[in-house]
Amino acid sequence: MERRRKKKISTKKVLKIIIPLIIVIILLINTKNIITLYQSKVTGYKFDTINTFHELDVYDNIKKHAYSSTLEKIITTEYYNPLYLDSYLDIKYYEKENYFDNINKLLNIGYNANEINDINSKLLDKSINLLISNDYLKDISSIINLEYFNEDNLERYLTYNKNNELDYVDLITYVNADLDHKYYTGVKDITDPKDILVLVNKYNKLPSTYEPDDLEAISNKYNRGFNNKMRHDAKVAFEEMAEAATKDNIYIYSGSAYRSYSYQANLYNRYVASNGFDDAETFSARAGYSEHQTGLATDIMNANYEYISANMKEYTWLLNNSYKYGFILRYPKGKEKITGYMYEEWHFRYLGKETAEEVNKLGITYDEYIARSIKK
Ligand code: DAL
Ligand code: ZN
Repeated sequence: MERRRKKKISTKKVLKIIIPLIIVIILLINTKNIITLYQSKVTGYKFDTINTFHELDVYDNIKKHAYSSTLEKIITTEYYNPLYLDSYLDIKYYEKENYFDNINKLLNIGYNANEINDINSKLLDKSINLLISNDYLKDISSIINLEYFNEDNLERYLTYNKNNELDYVDLITYVNADLDHKYYTGVKDITDPKDILVLVNKYNKLPSTYEPDDLEAISNKYNRGFNNKMRHDAKVAFEEMAEAATKDNIYIYSGSAYRSYSYQANLYNRYVASNGFDDAETFSARAGYSEHQTGLATDIMNANYEYISANMKEYTWLLNNSYKYGFILRYPKGKEKITGYMYEEWHFRYLGKETAEEVNKLGITYDEYIARSIKK
């Protein structure tokens, strides 16, 4: 009887210690879980991810930012690089092959999170791979968002960027204008020579057989040359312009307008013979490459049969007024590399009033204008 009572008391004592202890332990564990659950709820990350954040001691940083799917997914992979933690927070997640590897490579090249978001949202995988295998392309976001950025040209932009110090607008414009190729290389055959807006230059060639079917002689009143024809619209506009000029006591004349393919061939050959090849190339177009063959251009003269030059009042008048009649100065000063020709103060090209006004307002060459009209 005595022994049984003794035993009963000792079991009770043990239980008295163990039970509270177990309760405390359970409470402790649950409290941690409750906190983690709470943190998961407020941040949006999974329970296990919160634990990972604590293990890596980054939770305090992360909780200040909005939820990042990219971070949630990358943190448990071999690609997680603690140096890029802040960037991961801002990089949008895309379900793409090699995504994390690519993000790390782009970050390593120097692209920031915003740029990477533009790259991932707007470029094809093959373009992203191109960026990864090249140096940092400055202003990539502005480039991608340019209306005339042409993704097919990305490799050419990257190459041209390596060899030329240009702002991004010129970089994209010049490559679109084929200026990364030597003159007369990669030449495209013009398929719509009748288009009033046709671009003819050292990369765009007219068919040798092309002759406009609406050529008309310019009135003798405003002509001083042998090649006196222009296409109907251009002829009417030229006469209108010359007439308007007289109101300001300015007298301008067409000196050389439409020239056939064979005429241009002879002319060019003569210049090569007299001036030498290199010199001739700066002011004379090879046959098929001359705007004169379109019937939309003319070399303008003054009343003394002199081609217009920059010191003449006729030139100043033309600069200020020609666009109103649909004409532009086609080979301006300082743009020789772009047009492929020396400054030609006398050569004016008809584009129609609307386009001539736009080109004039932008202050760019027609080659650049077309390069910027290319839509994605
Ligand atoms: N002088 C211009 C470039 C031409 O020959 O067409
Ligand atoms: Zn000309």
